[in-house]
Amino acid sequence: MIGIWSPEVWKGIGLLAAALLLGAAFGYTAWFLLGAVTIYLGLHLYNLHRLEHWLRVGRRYHPPDARGIWGDVFHGLYRLQQRNRRRKRRLAQFLDRFEQVLGALPDATVVLGADHTIEWANEAAARLLNLRWPQDSGRRIQTLVRFPLFLEYVERGDFAEPVEMPSPADGRVRLAVRLIPYGQDQLLLVARDMTRIHRLEQVRRDFVANVSHELRTPLTVMRGYLETLEGAGDELPAAWGEPVAIMGQQVARMQRIVEDLLLLARLEAEPVGAGARVVKVAPMLAQLREEARVLSGERGHRIELTADEELCLRGEEHVLRSAFANVLFNAVQYTPAGGGITMRWYADGDGAHFEVEDNGIGVPPAHIPRLTERFYRVDKGRSRATGGTGLGLAIVKHALNRHDGRLRVQSEVGVGSVFTCDFPRERVVEGCGSIEALPPPKGAAG
Ligand SMILES: Nc1ncnc2c1ncn2[C@@H]1O[C@H](COP(=O)(O)OP(=O)(O)OP(=O)(O)O)[C@@H](O)[C@H]1O
Ligand SMILES: [Mg+2]
Repeated sequence: MIGIWSPEVWKGIGLLAAALLLGAAFGYTAWFLLGAVTIYLGLHLYNLHRLEHWLRVGRRYHPPDARGIWGDVFHGLYRLQQRNRRRKRRLAQFLDRFEQVLGALPDATVVLGADHTIEWANEAAARLLNLRWPQDSGRRIQTLVRFPLFLEYVERGDFAEPVEMPSPADGRVRLAVRLIPYGQDQLLLVARDMTRIHRLEQVRRDFVANVSHELRTPLTVMRGYLETLEGAGDELPAAWGEPVAIMGQQVARMQRIVEDLLLLARLEAEPVGAGARVVKVAPMLAQLREEARVLSGERGHRIELTADEELCLRGEEHVLRSAFANVLFNAVQYTPAGGGITMRWYADGDGAHFEVEDNGIGVPPAHIPRLTERFYRVDKGRSRATGGTGLGLAIVKHALNRHDGRLRVQSEVGVGSVFTCDFPRERVVEGCGSIEALPPPKGAAG
């Protein structure tokens, strides 16, 4: 710093000294000093003017030539500018590349600002969501993508799961649309083409349903013959008795699996909410308790029921029955003889709940999230012994889904389990105990 400034200081001192000497020699010290200061100031003003002009007009070009401190100032500023320019260029290139990458993605990607207005969209957004970029910039996404499920999804603000919907550009294309919050009040919308997976899912569903259906008749025939053989009594060679009985049990088991698979396929295929009538749950539960007692047989479980008689549900009776039966019969199956089982049917601020509590064998925590998968069994050996197929809770899950409900499981190994079916308030009908039959709600099909 001092190195830069010292010539400048010496220049000033030299000028003043020369003015003093000349002034003393000619007898006009004050005038000579004034003249020296004016020249000095003038030089600085001139360079200041050149700097201002260069910054205003010619920043792109080389700075004006200057010596001393002004030369350093010009060159220092020029270097700073060059550096900024390089940085800006790099940033612009990076942004360009970033845009190209997002543009090349096969998924529709839309950047949404506050109030869900479109700030940027890639090419796939035009193909999948029918958005035009940049024409649609600044428009709200809800005014362009108007599918009801999507609008609900945006309003709800819970973006943990994607929403599935047909593409606004082509109804045959199925999309999984997801909103991802980032920064402040900003959202990234990503829409993925799921048509292929959707089609495969449909093929799987149809295949399972068709195979199950086709297996029904041969199984019925086999069961019929086996029952005839079992009924033959002494006419049958003694050695055949046991194999025939086991074959009978296994065919019965296969029939149960086929029926469960068919029920699952039906639950998946029919549109949600079809045939929503008011279902009287309390009498249904009383009947199920009797069936559970029969199932318990000699094992003598204590089965208690507390049910709100006035509390009903809008839904499909046979589907709800099948869900509740599966949860209850599991409690009987997985609770040792003499154990206690309590059924509760009640409402609170969140909606209505059917709960089955047992003091049975319980489920280890690692298995709980997977219980509703098809064919999932905690202890395969034990389940097979009790005739379980592992489809029961999958049926429960789908049956509850159709009623906007969900299954909650709390369990501790060796202590017992609580399986709760939760239903939202919109499904609940209170004070229905004396109503014989209510018409389905407006807009409900079937
Ligand atoms: N109340 C319970 N206590 C302990 N374990 C349970 C209980 N309910 C379910 N489970 C476990 O969850 C698994 C899955 O139950 P799920 O009802 O789906 O199948 P399953 O009972 O084996 O066969 P099924 O299709 O005949 O019902 C069972 O195999 C069992 O291990
Ligand atoms: Mg079961």
